[in-house]
Amino acid sequence: MNLNKILTLMCCLLAGSAFYSHASDPRAVPLTDDWRFSLGDPGDAMSPDYDDSAWRVLNLPHDWAIEGDFSQDNPSGTGGGALPGGIGWYRKDFTMPASLKDKMVFVDFDGAYMNSTVYINGKELGTRPYGYASFSYDITPYIKWGERNVIAVRVDNAEQPNSRWYSGCGIYRNVWMRVLNPVHVALWGTCVTTPDVSAYEATVDIATTIECKLPDRATYSLVTGIYAPDGRLVANDTTDFTTGNLAVEQTFRVKRPDLWSPSSPALYTAVSHITLGDNILDTYSTPFGIRYFSFDAEHGFSLNGQPMKINGVCMHHDLGALGAAVNTRAIERQLEILKEMGVNAYRCSHNPPAPEVLELCDRMGLIVMDETFDMWRKRKTSHDYSSYFDDWHERDLTDLIRRDRNHPSVIMWSIGNEVLEQWSDANADTLSLEEANLILNFGHSKDMLAGEDAEMSVNSLLTAKLADMTRSLDPTRPVTAGCNEGDPGNHLFRSGALDIIGYNYNNGKLKDVPANFPGKPFIITESVSALQTRGYYVSPSDSVIICPTRWDVPYYDESFKCSAYDNCHVPWGSSHEDNLRQVLDNDYIAGQFIWTGFDYLGEPTPYGWPARSSYFGIVDLAGFPKDVYYMYQSQWRPDKQVLHLFPHWNHTPDDTVDMWCYYNNADEVELFVNGVSQGIRSKGDDDFHAWWRVTYEPGEVSVVAKRGGRIVAERKIATAGEPYRIVLEPDRDVISADGRDLSFITVKVVDKDGNICPDAADLIKFDVTGAGFNAGVDNGSQTSLERFKDDKRHAFYGKALLIVQNNGEKGDISVSASSAGLRPASTTIKSR
Ligand code: GAL
Repeated sequence: MNLNKILTLMCCLLAGSAFYSHASDPRAVPLTDDWRFSLGDPGDAMSPDYDDSAWRVLNLPHDWAIEGDFSQDNPSGTGGGALPGGIGWYRKDFTMPASLKDKMVFVDFDGAYMNSTVYINGKELGTRPYGYASFSYDITPYIKWGERNVIAVRVDNAEQPNSRWYSGCGIYRNVWMRVLNPVHVALWGTCVTTPDVSAYEATVDIATTIECKLPDRATYSLVTGIYAPDGRLVANDTTDFTTGNLAVEQTFRVKRPDLWSPSSPALYTAVSHITLGDNILDTYSTPFGIRYFSFDAEHGFSLNGQPMKINGVCMHHDLGALGAAVNTRAIERQLEILKEMGVNAYRCSHNPPAPEVLELCDRMGLIVMDETFDMWRKRKTSHDYSSYFDDWHERDLTDLIRRDRNHPSVIMWSIGNEVLEQWSDANADTLSLEEANLILNFGHSKDMLAGEDAEMSVNSLLTAKLADMTRSLDPTRPVTAGCNEGDPGNHLFRSGALDIIGYNYNNGKLKDVPANFPGKPFIITESVSALQTRGYYVSPSDSVIICPTRWDVPYYDESFKCSAYDNCHVPWGSSHEDNLRQVLDNDYIAGQFIWTGFDYLGEPTPYGWPARSSYFGIVDLAGFPKDVYYMYQSQWRPDKQVLHLFPHWNHTPDDTVDMWCYYNNADEVELFVNGVSQGIRSKGDDDFHAWWRVTYEPGEVSVVAKRGGRIVAERKIATAGEPYRIVLEPDRDVISADGRDLSFITVKVVDKDGNICPDAADLIKFDVTGAGFNAGVDNGSQTSLERFKDDKRHAFYGKALLIVQNNGEKGDISVSASSAGLRPASTTIKSR
């Protein structure tokens, strides 16, 4: 076959590289449908002859915990989301045609939480303890060609607590099968770097690891083409090689490269073919970006030569009502909501993300801090990864970097979050999960730090080992760690091995950073930890609530809520505004990752049961923005006119109400109550909002923003009357008929005039028929003990969420919602 034919084939391959293609290996096909599942631990379920006919049939990814009931007795505790754990088994039958018997077959798991043991036809392939690691098994030797084969997977999440947040249970990420010729590009087998980039030309180096299991001494060719974002072939190279495992290095020049950035996430694709004469034996493609960046001790971060503040958020991996079960659209929706707010960076806290997260960040334009571990050798909870660290950290770290290093979105590695090795001796062995979460951030004394002249401790040596390993696998990105000990005596800092100093919190020590760490770039790896419940406000809004007050004394407030004025935070954190001011005022701060973008399951600081999900999010668990979302939007989206007025206008007559407004692109804002001016305000130097203290009277409150005397925006909130009807607002009314795509339907309770009823808590019943099903319900409440998998949900401050999933068929999905005393609503989602 000549080069032209090969390159034409590559184009077809590119055109077909679908959204749901293997995020890590494009040759793979999904192995996700029609698995059998059973909770429990029958001793012989690995046997091919085991009778699983009574087991449930389901599609992966799957999280059995999210289907369960909240209970105080669940071993994960409220810190882990108060949902069930346990042991579960999955089994999958398949036939491999005898015609393929010269091939090699691999099964790839993007992640199973945790301690998964995989069997093929009764033969044990291995156990992978880390629930966030991606891994693969070569099942070729055990395949029965032309006959039935059975994969069985035991997933063990029984020993709890093992996580400081909700982990989920089961094969919660995708599974793939690769059927390859014995000569092929290895899993994660390309390493693409762009050592020289200018506006005129970029050098692209690709090292391709080839596994060649054939004994003959034939001469093969590696034919690699580079395709521009618009599909044009812009460079190619052919390199010959003979048998044996080897790495082939190729260099390409790309003229006038289209640079990758959050505002222009241009993706190139390297398509690699292994050929023998006219035969193509393997085809592999690697999406990558061309960009350059630097972290500077004085000036912070720059991308493609342009200074850029990192306006990031930390995220845990759960998808609210869908639990940990990966769904590409659900992740995409989270990222859309964050991008809309102006977020340009994402921290995968505190573990390797699903491959889909990075694929989406590449495509949508978010830069990423990719993180390995929440603990090293010292445990934070009784059964956590520290038990496996000694045996597994090298493998887990290596696999993460090999898997993720071609993503242009990834711009730094974090080797750990708040590991207890920061201090000379710190151990949380004896603490409950709730205590472990809190103690991490309450002061450690000086004698827990390294003395100035002390020798390098084991903890520092371990830091150096992990950082060096990371750099040896990827010399192109800096290494940092999230440290909540800001003193230079921190054993991680003392190692000198971190390229970037990363602080979690420690706002009081920020000003000393340049003097304490001369010449070192600096980033706030984690910030804020403000606490908010959407729709709930505690006045006076200018007095700050700091809770909990002590790590060892439970905090109690009968509301189990936190104020959504930006006036409530944990003692180690700050308000959103205070933190933002520091980041903006100091060029040496490369940026920050706010804790957190979305609320997540587990860690309901400052409360315990019945609270079971976090209060930290800028967006609630259901995906509804809290008010402070618009504060960031007003700062980070100068391209968008923002004017957000809150709270609602339903109070007791003569109450004193603090009205806040976030705005941009205006000189002043004026508030009116029933048409009467309450004064003109502008934001103070240290403020990011304007506010008024007014006396409530029913009717209407409104705000007008003016620039140069001209009105540029106006918002009105009317006093809502009694709940009257339900409104359904799908985020998309046409979805794909692929069995996975979702429509997120916002459910509102409104009065006769369409005003949202800010206190409505009606129980709403859903009915979904046709080409889809109800995939979950939520309302963003941190204390609701209602099931996520149900056909009903109470509204919470006027809103609820219904997630509808296509069932694989084309056609209409009819959705209706009803509630006693309210007019019902219905809508139709089309599946194509
Ligand atoms: C940090 C920690 C996070 C979370 C947060 C809550 O110390 O890194 O995982 O626990 O505190 O404020």
